[in-house]
Amino acid sequence: MRIGYLQFRPEFGEVEGNLRRARELLGDERADLWVLPELFSTGYQFTSPQEARELAEPVPDGPTTRALLAWAREWSCYFVAGLAELAPQGVYNSAVLVGPQGLLLLYRKTHLFYREKEHFLPGDTGFQVAEVGGVVVGLMVCFDHLFPEAARTLALKGAQVIAHPANLVLPGIAQLTMRVRALENRVFTVTANRVGEERRGGEALRFTGQSQIVSPRGEVLAGSGEETEEAVAVEIDPREALDKEITPFNHLFSDRRVGLYELCGDGRG
Ligand code: ACM
Repeated sequence: MRIGYLQFRPEFGEVEGNLRRARELLGDERADLWVLPELFSTGYQFTSPQEARELAEPVPDGPTTRALLAWAREWSCYFVAGLAELAPQGVYNSAVLVGPQGLLLLYRKTHLFYREKEHFLPGDTGFQVAEVGGVVVGLMVCFDHLFPEAARTLALKGAQVIAHPANLVLPGIAQLTMRVRALENRVFTVTANRVGEERRGGEALRFTGQSQIVSPRGEVLAGSGEETEEAVAVEIDPREALDKEITPFNHLFSDRRVGLYELCGDGRG
């Protein structure tokens, strides 16, 4: 199986241009599963809930999901990508998994970051997986990386590959946490981050690039720089993610002591 990411610089509000640019950058590179950044067709830095609502689109009947579906059919492959989703109750920071057969998953970001809390509803879908050509793929979005429960939930649901669209701004953190998420769950991870700067509403945000693909051993199989726009894909053997045996005495999942974990508190005493 070939898995890849697209790292690029969306222009805020230019949905049509961003879709065109993403397709151009994918060029002749081929993969079975592509991961594109969070909010890749709209840009990131909304300045009001109305602005988010105006740029958001229904799934699957909006221009972004339609474009992804068309590419998936044309190239017989799958796409995971982040987009602003317009739902009857409001706007979500969502990710979709689409393939030639249609929409497979809609995930609404669980852990909203910074001012996203002013513009989006907190996700209500939970962490989900679906089969892509016999391989189980799970979705999480950007800041979810700092909550190990997200990747663990996906791994417990059978994810072999975690697709992670991102718009990272805190330097160097997710590149580390996603290696740990891969290692501690024995899964492949694909983080598709964006690059460039957005300067809106009196605040500048610089996105950190360094998209990466990590193996179940925590090795970085592919990685990009902080500024480059590029599509990168690597060949993997997804069966590697099925082996959870650490030693003949230790199994990543069955060694868990769930009765001793107190996961419901908020840590504030
Ligand atoms: C982020 O969740 N976009 C940092």
